[in-house]
Amino acid sequence: MAEIDLVVVGSGFYGLTVAERAAVELGRKVVVIDRRDHIGGNAYSKAEDETGIEVHCYGAHLFHTSNPRVWEYVNRFTSFTDYVHRVYTTHRGEVFPMPINLGTVNQFFRSAHGPRAARDLVAEQAAEVHSDDVSNLEEKAISLIGRPLYEAFIRDYTAKQWQTDPTELPAEIISRLPVRYTYDNRYFNDTWEGLPTDGYTAWIERMADHPNIEVRLSTDFFDESQPVNKSAVVGNVPVVYTGPVDRYFDYSEGELSWRTLDFEQEVLPVGDFQGTSVMNYADLEIPYTRIHEFRHFHPEREYPGDKTVIMREFSRFAERGDEPYYPVNTPEDRARLLAYRELGKQESGVHFGGRLGTYQYLDMHMAIGSALSAYENRIRADLT
Ligand code: FDA
Repeated sequence: MAEIDLVVVGSGFYGLTVAERAAVELGRKVVVIDRRDHIGGNAYSKAEDETGIEVHCYGAHLFHTSNPRVWEYVNRFTSFTDYVHRVYTTHRGEVFPMPINLGTVNQFFRSAHGPRAARDLVAEQAAEVHSDDVSNLEEKAISLIGRPLYEAFIRDYTAKQWQTDPTELPAEIISRLPVRYTYDNRYFNDTWEGLPTDGYTAWIERMADHPNIEVRLSTDFFDESQPVNKSAVVGNVPVVYTGPVDRYFDYSEGELSWRTLDFEQEVLPVGDFQGTSVMNYADLEIPYTRIHEFRHFHPEREYPGDKTVIMREFSRFAERGDEPYYPVNTPEDRARLLAYRELGKQESGVHFGGRLGTYQYLDMHMAIGSALSAYENRIRADLT
């Protein structure tokens, strides 16, 4: 290990941000390993074979941030298109704009309310349940937006996401259900949003493209037949670990629970299937939660006019071996996480980071922002 200054486990945005900083700013030799056969973690995308349409392999990824530091940093590696994300939902054969806004409310109630009348209507319906009296997700949602909107747009969609009836889900899963009293249906409120002009993989490859960074793919940190593995490295070389924190400690405090997604990808012989990038399906009769149509993420590109790629998304609880996507975060999970954090403090020279290493959902800008902060506040000191 004499020639390696830092080992980064995981080539997602968190790991690559730390690797890039250590290599470029400090001139350190960094080895990045990933157990997958590609870099980029869940942001990885590739051109679909038949059509050349860029597909986000682990679900749709939209970049957005209001953090000037992150925006400046990511622009070193890629420019962004002016794509603005909008989402629609199909309910009982009718399409509504999301998130719930004045357009959704007026279409749903067949009304022409202005902001104040719509606000009054929703408040009157929400008064059915007082927010102090809620004991499950359904009651919480009704206390926020009233029963009619909840039953149309939230109930079945949530049941499909969690494969659990919302009356059996904890109220804490939702803290807010924003209703916009304007016709603005931009999905994100951030200062900057867009998609990387040349795609996610080009962006990610540029981050790793430095003579001091070596990437080793198909390399699992727990595989002792590999030269860079946990036993060989920990205690000898500083490590940034972005894999699952429970796996690192061999699940000694119990397994953390996750939701996962299954994707069903199809090439269709039409130029445009749904006219937009993401269509949610709010009703229980449709088993998937949404359909992505990737050509719409890049209207500026020349894609074939007679074919399109769609991806249906199904949601369920993850089992060991599934891709962990969203933390479930039960009280047991939180207790286990605290125990793992205590164990983590005793691992000298190991920095736990990223969404798997800290067991929290992080958007890309949050993963990058927290990696920049961790590098500056803690990791850099280990390397100088
Ligand atoms: P990430 O999971 O990307 O990387 C971790 C890496 O560690 C993986 O490549 C894994 O293979 C590797 N690894 C794990 N164990 C290992 C081991 N034992 N040995 C070696 N390597 C190991 N964000 C956003 O801003 N906009 C969006 O629209 C979306 N959309 C979205 C959809 C879905 C379905 C998900 C699940 C997530 C998003 N995100 C998102 C979030 C985005 O994916 C997230 O911010 C980044 O993946 C976080 O990067 P990390 O580096 O933390 O993890």
